[in-house]
Amino acid sequence: MTQATAQAHPNIALVKYWGKRDTALNLPATGSVSMTLDVFPTTTTVQVDASAAEDEFILNDVLRDGVPAERTRRFLDIVRAMAGTDARARVTSHNTVPSAAGLASSASGFAALAGAAAAAYGLDLDDRQLSRLARRGSGSAARSIFGGFALWHAGDDEESFAEPLAAPADLAMVVTIVDAGEKQVSSREAMRRTALTSPYYPAWVSSTEQSLAAAQEAFRDADVARIGRITETNALRMHAAIQGSDPSIRYLSPTSVAIFDRVEQLRAEGLTVFATADAGPNVVALCLAEEAPAVDAALAAFAETVIAHPGPGLRLVAEGEQ
Ligand code: DP6
Repeated sequence: MTQATAQAHPNIALVKYWGKRDTALNLPATGSVSMTLDVFPTTTTVQVDASAAEDEFILNDVLRDGVPAERTRRFLDIVRAMAGTDARARVTSHNTVPSAAGLASSASGFAALAGAAAAAYGLDLDDRQLSRLARRGSGSAARSIFGGFALWHAGDDEESFAEPLAAPADLAMVVTIVDAGEKQVSSREAMRRTALTSPYYPAWVSSTEQSLAAAQEAFRDADVARIGRITETNALRMHAAIQGSDPSIRYLSPTSVAIFDRVEQLRAEGLTVFATADAGPNVVALCLAEEAPAVDAALAAFAETVIAHPGPGLRLVAEGEQ
């Protein structure tokens, strides 16, 4: 029996991935840009056991079945095909981010699983190959292979990987935990429904292509104000497209909207801060690291908050190490 353990952190997109060009290969409709956080890591161990009849997926000490187990099994099938073996595995994962609350647990989860499974099955993959592999589990996981900022390219299977982007400044994110409960509609289903039924989906895709080009330019220019404006606008456009689905889906709660308003006020008061939100009510404020305590103090009036800085990329954890 061979085993390996890997750790990865969630990431929050500044230019979002929302919609697929190919569901089998999990290719995104557009590229995206993110910051990997230094909080909420997922640590995953994969034990390959040639004598086991089935894969097992244990998340936070609970043996899982249904969709999470099925997604894990399908991901392991991809790794097994690459490694040329049928051997089953036990996957034991510890997630410190509230699962499925729109706080990017699938990003850290599949990035850690890609790293641990590749190592346990004896594959020697570079970061680019790991990013392509992680993408197959969950699109956003392609970006969590890298620490700091990352750009994930759209394109075909070969070309659709993430790579690091130089930090434009000393930035931080204040994560608000408006609701840590499981969301009603998964991002996978909501993404599908948006693409199939929202009349705003084509406009979302074309405007995101423009935002991505503008964001890359703003990163090169280290223009934080422009990066922030692109981030906030792109998030609100994504939520508008989602709300345009039939049946409609609304991820932002009244508290989320109040936080967006407060962030705008903080800007009027002179802080460099911008809001974004993934597929859930938890708003994340992007700000200058030196201003994170002031932003945190203001947003703590609405919800529990966590200050995050740019975090590390995927790493293998040695046996006995924590
Ligand atoms: C709103 O990566 O979870 O967080 O590829 O279907 O697993 P799948 O989707 P997932 O979607 C993330 C959506 C988002 C935006 C983003 O992270 O870019």
